[in-house]
Amino acid sequence: MKHTLLLPYRAPQNVTILANQRFEATVADSELSVDEIVALAHEKRAEGIVVVPKQKITKDVINKLPDSVKVIATCSVGFDHLDIPAAKARGIFLTNTPDVLTECTADIAMLLLLNACRRGREYMEIMDSGWRKAYSQSEMLGLKVSGKTLGIYGMGRIGQAVADRARGFGMKIAYCNRRRLPPEQEKGATYFANLHDMLPHCQILSLNAPGTADTKHIINDETLALLPNNAVFINVARGSLVDEAALIRALKSGKLFAAGLDVFENEPAYNLELKEFHNVFLTPHMGSATQETRDAMGYRALENVEQALRGERPQDALW
Ligand code: DGY
Repeated sequence: MKHTLLLPYRAPQNVTILANQRFEATVADSELSVDEIVALAHEKRAEGIVVVPKQKITKDVINKLPDSVKVIATCSVGFDHLDIPAAKARGIFLTNTPDVLTECTADIAMLLLLNACRRGREYMEIMDSGWRKAYSQSEMLGLKVSGKTLGIYGMGRIGQAVADRARGFGMKIAYCNRRRLPPEQEKGATYFANLHDMLPHCQILSLNAPGTADTKHIINDETLALLPNNAVFINVARGSLVDEAALIRALKSGKLFAAGLDVFENEPAYNLELKEFHNVFLTPHMGSATQETRDAMGYRALENVEQALRGERPQDALW
C-alpha cells in the first residue's frame, strides 16, 4: 500500500511523476490556500504534505490537520513559514531542502551584484528604448567589482557559495556569522563577530542569513548609515531582514550606489516604490528557480517524506 501524499501546488513535471510513482499522491494544479490544504488532508487522510514558502503553516493550521499527517516537507531551504514548536507538539516532522539550491541561489546573488554595480537595469532600459545617443567616456559609469570588499551577513552554505563566486571576480571577502568558520571554509575571509563592526568595510553587502526573530530588520536606518558612502546592497535571503522604508530612504539620499533585491518584505505584493529607482535591480524571489534545482528540491522533499513515513528521522528534519 502506498502512503498518501498531498502536493498542494503546481510542482515541476518530474516531481509530479515521481510523487505519483512513489505515493498515492494528490497533486494540485495551482497553489492551494492553507484552508484548502487542511480540508484536503482530512478528505484524503494525508500522511505527508509537501508545501512551498507561500503556504504559511502556522500553529492554527497544524492543529487543524488530521492525525494521519506525520510529515510536512517544505520545498525551500527557508522555514520561516513553518511553526516548528507547534509541529513538534503534535509529533509531525517538518523538513526543508538544504544543499540542492545553494549554487543557484548564490548565482542569483551574483546576478544581482553585477547588475547593481554595472547599472544593468539602466543599460537594459537604454537598449529597450532603442539606444541612439552615444555615451562619452564619463557617462553612465558603474562600479568596478574587482578589488572591492564584499561583506556577507550569514556565512552558511549559500553565503560561502557567494564568497567562492565573488573570489573568482577578484573581490575581498568579509563575513559576519554567529560562529567563525574553520580556515578551510574561511579561505582567507575576514571574520567579524558583530555586524556593526563589519558594515564600514562593506563596499558591497550581501544578506545570506535566514529570516528569524533575531534577524528581523537587521538592516535599518542605523545599520545602513554604517555602510561606506556609495555602497551596494544585495538581498537574496529574506525580505524580513530589511526595514524597506529605511532602504528606500538610503536609496533616495544617495547613500547607496545601487541595490539588487530578490526578496521583499511583502511578496508578491512588493513595495512598488522600489521599482522607481533605476539603480535597483529586482527579481521576483527566483533564487532557486532553475529546472534542475526545482526538480532537486522536489525530489529531496519527497525523500524526506518517505523517510518519515518509514518511521525514520528524515535527513532534513527541523526538530
Ligand atoms: C528558499 O528555498 O528558502 C528560497 O528562498 C525559496 O523560498
